[in-house]
Amino acid sequence: MCGIVGYVGSRKALPILINGLKRLEYRGYDSAGLALLQDDGLLISKSVGKIKHLEDALGDRSNSQASHGIAHTRWATHGEPNYVNAHPHTDNNCEIALVHNGIIENYRTLREYLVRQGYIIKTDTDTEILAHLIHFSYQGDLVEAVRGALTQVEGAYGIAVVSSLHPDLIVAARKGSPLVIGQGVDENFVASDVSAMLEHTNRVVYLDDDEIAAVTPNTFEITHIDRTRRDPQVEEISWTLDMIEKEGFDHFMLKEIHEQPTTIRNAIRGRLNFEEGIARLNGLNLQYDELRTISRIIITACGTSWHSALIGKYLIEEIARVPVEVEYASEFRYRSPIVDSQTVLFAISQSGETADTLAAMREAKKHGATVLGIVNAVGSTIARESHGGVYIHAGPEIGVASTKAFTSQVMVLTLIANLLGRMRNWSVAQGREMIEAVEAIPAQIESILANEDAIKAIADAYHQATNFLYLGRGINFPVALEGALKLKEISYIHAEGYPAAEMKHGPIALIDENMPVVVIALKDPVYDKVMSNIAEVRARNGRVIAIATEGDTEIADRVNEVIYIPHTHRLLTPCLAVIPLQLLSYHIAVMRDCSVDQPRNLAKSVTVE
Ligand code: G6P
Repeated sequence: MCGIVGYVGSRKALPILINGLKRLEYRGYDSAGLALLQDDGLLISKSVGKIKHLEDALGDRSNSQASHGIAHTRWATHGEPNYVNAHPHTDNNCEIALVHNGIIENYRTLREYLVRQGYIIKTDTDTEILAHLIHFSYQGDLVEAVRGALTQVEGAYGIAVVSSLHPDLIVAARKGSPLVIGQGVDENFVASDVSAMLEHTNRVVYLDDDEIAAVTPNTFEITHIDRTRRDPQVEEISWTLDMIEKEGFDHFMLKEIHEQPTTIRNAIRGRLNFEEGIARLNGLNLQYDELRTISRIIITACGTSWHSALIGKYLIEEIARVPVEVEYASEFRYRSPIVDSQTVLFAISQSGETADTLAAMREAKKHGATVLGIVNAVGSTIARESHGGVYIHAGPEIGVASTKAFTSQVMVLTLIANLLGRMRNWSVAQGREMIEAVEAIPAQIESILANEDAIKAIADAYHQATNFLYLGRGINFPVALEGALKLKEISYIHAEGYPAAEMKHGPIALIDENMPVVVIALKDPVYDKVMSNIAEVRARNGRVIAIATEGDTEIADRVNEVIYIPHTHRLLTPCLAVIPLQLLSYHIAVMRDCSVDQPRNLAKSVTVE
């Protein structure tokens, strides 16, 4: 979703801002813009579409010597994506410029008020109102003007503000939309995401909600909106630049698919106790006694993370026999859920910033639940607001369609289920069998990736289909959902995931020779049932692509295509079965000439409701 980058220092700001915006492209956007502080006032430039258009629009101005500015990528919410609505927005004198992520909910009321005060409103956005409001509150001190304006605002914001009246100052503020300050030498940065500044510094301070920062080349002062001061703790983040570059791959998504052996190793490193057959997860901040007495778990998430939550339910219920409910965060937060101090709620989020997941988590906390995060982005809001949790350590995920975060989430849920199970009814032997199988997963993923050419050939044969059906049973039903989601996200082919046996109750009506059906048909207790479902598809001329267990020779004659995955523990199959589905979607999308890393209309991190 929208991205912010700001720079104040002694170098030329423009290339730093443009590169920062390019690092944020993955979040999804439809227009971009920037404001530079020149000796003769603010230089504002905007464009619709890609950052390249913004660079072109700058023309002669691209050699600006300004060393102070802010920039933005916009993902339209209020007002269509056009030049006028792109950020930055300014006051009527063009002395104050502002970029904003989030939504100002009471902007209509504020707009009417400002019009009565004589302000001329030029755009359809909620953000412009904020620029005028800051101007209205301004009495010589920009920080105080921002504070004054924000006290009147309802909604969510991450903002960066500059003014031609205040050279060498960026005012940044946050409520519900992430913002981070980067500390350099004689220069400082502001961004909505550390990747925008990672090539310049790894020393960061995350702003908390209701905080305002005054950032100059050598200082940053953080105050709460009520004026109390905070002594900022600078953190060093361990992400490196190569983690956010393609490193020879055609797309970030492909790089991230191939990173999975490494990311799974990172997710399990130091967490496996082979002797006891148990996972070590100290970050949960729960004693063994507390783990033994958990009587109810809720897992909440959105998108791909919700699919891993569904797998978590299968794992925890089967291994630990604790009831688990899984709910979309957007539904959970609005339906007065039954939550009390006996409830443990897991919030799963790659970004740690998804607005609905965050709100669901806060709602559960309000009712006394213990709230635990399963998060990738270190220092993100969900991670910081949880009572405890487990980082998945997948490193930055840039492709909008989530791949490596999914498998690492599933792996962490497997470890949580193992821990809860071993605290209860699972024996050492059962625990060991699983822990040993977990350790083998990265090498098994490598062997599936080595088969990419065969998967690409299948993609070639089916990439012109207009509909796909994905079927799975048991713990692999959510994998079918995830396979279908991957395909529709990046190739725009309509795809549905279904429990294999449910097909008879509806989707079977769609099946004909034009309908490829991807079936996860592994050698497990429901194998024979799935084979019957395959027969039902074939009887209607449907074309079946099966994901099967290595060594299953009989399946090849009963389907059109088969992709083999290695044998593993019955409960660990999702981490393997999803890999060919990711590759299939990727290659189909490439063959259809789709924008794989930045699919239309999607955003990497959805920070609005
Ligand atoms: C967006 C992304 C999805 C992601 C979902 C949840 O829709 O496009 O890939 O699964 O948000 O994001 P989270 O960061 O909370 O896992």
